[in-house]
Amino acid sequence: MSVVALVPAAGRGVRLGAGMPKALVPVIGESLLLRAVRGLLASGRVQHVVVAAPADQVEVVTAELAALPSAHVVAGGAERTDSVRRALDAVEQIAPDARVVLVHDAARAFTPASMIRDVVSAVEQGAPAVIPVLPVTDTIKQVDDAGDVVSTVDRSQLRAVQTPQGFAIDVLREAYAAAGDVATDDAGLVERVGGKVHTVAGHPHALKITTAFDLAIAESVLAVAGE
Ligand code: CTP
Ligand code: MG
Repeated sequence: MSVVALVPAAGRGVRLGAGMPKALVPVIGESLLLRAVRGLLASGRVQHVVVAAPADQVEVVTAELAALPSAHVVAGGAERTDSVRRALDAVEQIAPDARVVLVHDAARAFTPASMIRDVVSAVEQGAPAVIPVLPVTDTIKQVDDAGDVVSTVDRSQLRAVQTPQGFAIDVLREAYAAAGDVATDDAGLVERVGGKVHTVAGHPHALKITTAFDLAIAESVLAVAGE
């Protein structure tokens, strides 16, 4: 029973503003995408990776991953949901025996191997959908259109959500078959079809690189990790 990871990497990286797709941006000499895909394979629990590349950069991305024979590249779509859907559609060809699927943002390139293993294990132990989460540390306020505070939200039950998110493959296929519009989160599609989503502990190093500030943090993460 193999595990396949889908890596949406087809975004433009507008907020990072590096003048190239975010997945191809180097951090200390290696792209976010290469780091993310290698991290998945290095967990020892992922046999195949399907990357959704910007449609006009499929060749560039294929060359970037040439050293990793388990990585396959498809053209992504206009929204993240489209990119994940295209990668999921390719699984039948690439890994027909896959029973567990992870969806992992290329932008979360520094996710620890232990967290990837925890997500896979939770799905293998029977959870149909699994997401890594962190407690929310900031105080959270609800505000109105004028910017005035309406209320202070009880944050004790709130969690920030990371990737990889893990699924029994039939569950993710059913969720995407039912999905009409876009979602920021694959587990959210499972929730919409009434599926139960389990949580495991996330990790600060699994932060999503969105801005130049995040990239600076990532370089510090690598320094701490001894690279
Ligand atoms: N993504 C994708 N296809 C899209 C949009 C996003 O595969 N059409 C991927 C990105 O490449 C990224 C992940 O989804 O790995 C999370 O998206 P985000 O952080 O928003 O990345 P970008 O869309 O590239 O960044 P921005 O929104 O700043 O342009
Ligand atoms: Mg985006």
